[in-house]
Amino acid sequence: MGWQFVLIICACAYICSAENVVDPTIKTMEAFSGYLNVNGNEKDPFHSTMVDFVNLQKQIDQLSAFSDSPAPSVTRILYSHNDVAARRFIKDLMGRAGLSVREDAVGNIFGRWEGSEPDAPAVATGSHIDAIPYSGKYDGVVGVLGAIEAINLLRRSGFRPKRSLEVIMFTSEEPTRYGISCLGSRLLAGSVSLAKALTQTVDNDNISFLDAAKSAGYAKNEDFSNVFLDEKTYSAFVELHIEQGPILENEGVSIGIVTAIAAPASIKVDFGGNGGHAGAVLMPQRNDAGLAAAELALAVEKHVLESGSIDTVGTVGIMEVHPGAINSIPSKSHIEIDTRDIDEKRRNTVIEKIQESAVSISKRRGVELLEFKIVNQDPPALSDESVVKAMESATQVLGLSHKKMISRAYHDSLFMARKAPMGMIFIPCYKGYSHKPEEYASPEDIANGVKVLALTLTNLSLN
Ligand SMILES: *[C@@H]1O[C@H](CO)[C@@H](O)[C@H](O)[C@H]1NC(C)=O
Ligand SMILES: *[C@@H]1O[C@H](CO)[C@@H](O)[C@H](O)[C@H]1NC(C)=O
Repeated sequence: MGWQFVLIICACAYICSAENVVDPTIKTMEAFSGYLNVNGNEKDPFHSTMVDFVNLQKQIDQLSAFSDSPAPSVTRILYSHNDVAARRFIKDLMGRAGLSVREDAVGNIFGRWEGSEPDAPAVATGSHIDAIPYSGKYDGVVGVLGAIEAINLLRRSGFRPKRSLEVIMFTSEEPTRYGISCLGSRLLAGSVSLAKALTQTVDNDNISFLDAAKSAGYAKNEDFSNVFLDEKTYSAFVELHIEQGPILENEGVSIGIVTAIAAPASIKVDFGGNGGHAGAVLMPQRNDAGLAAAELALAVEKHVLESGSIDTVGTVGIMEVHPGAINSIPSKSHIEIDTRDIDEKRRNTVIEKIQESAVSISKRRGVELLEFKIVNQDPPALSDESVVKAMESATQVLGLSHKKMISRAYHDSLFMARKAPMGMIFIPCYKGYSHKPEEYASPEDIANGVKVLALTLTNLSLN
């Protein structure tokens, strides 16, 4: 045998084996699912102790201390001192989880774990950490800290992503300061009107959004259209969240798989009447703006019930009269209406009827309909079939009970669904409490949610 021939064989052996060399730390889904475990469920890729829920609970408690109200309540308002401190805490945890951190002009925070195919659209997960006044410490937080723990869990398991994984902390899901809910995700989804409005918006203390954002280190560039996501940024988005309702706890189910998020709308209405002395003006002479508001509130209930569906809801959560004195007939009134449904058409019919009622009430009572403003009228979002399947498959592998359900509260996922196939994972919370200090989710339930999220991310990352 000539030396040239040997050389060719060697070269071939080298090339062929180079092609077959697989980085042993990159697991295929099959190999990953076959991991050893100690909790008796052979298919469960994670040990029962693998979610570090003691540490996760500690982080939830630590984060809750960044609050403008005393424990156990939490108040964390956009760009406040405590919000900025909480953001630092999150960025630090992301860094320690090995994620590379970046922020956009409104302070959406992204932590990225680069996959072996860094140019492929990434898989994202996340939620928010702002908290309305006197609320609890789990709403949103579980979906941010839980996502970072899911990343840690995957690293401990030896997983290596193919599509990159990103954890997102969205800015201002709650409308507390500027009256805009899901500010960060709405902007990521490409809301041109919001990008414009933000340059002119002020809070109740007349502090502009721009000034507040700048004081927190953001808005260096005032063109907020820079925040818009490109179509191909994410191949999927998954959000882990407490249910904020009692169904999972009542039925003893571990995981809720969200198939749709209800379509929210909000409306502001102002009536103007003549006012006058509560004793001197006789009833036939009155144009009582307060009663017009009261009548419209009852009309909201009536029109919602007329829809015939249990999924249609309507609430008048704000009702103000002017001048607000016991012996003065209200000369002005202001009410705010929230109405939602999983069926957009049905919800829009309710809105039309409310508007017709507002007009007829004002005519009949001789008051002026000063304003009927539909503040937002968002469509519902459907979870994507591929993400639902990945979540379902994760619960099955993990041996956890699950139930498909509708999210009646809305979340950043409502807007992320406009940019990527979306899905949500719900975990039970105590009595369904939310937006109050008694809000609670058990460490076990949170750990289950983290595991389902982690396994769903692996599936979406490798597919
Ligand atoms: C709010 O601030 C702007 C600019 O600083 C000022 O022109 C305006 O008069 C203020 N409005 C109120 C109601 O104080
Ligand atoms: C990933 O999800 C798909 C459904 O989308 C499922 O068929 C498959 O079994 C999942 N893989 C694993 C290992 O969970």
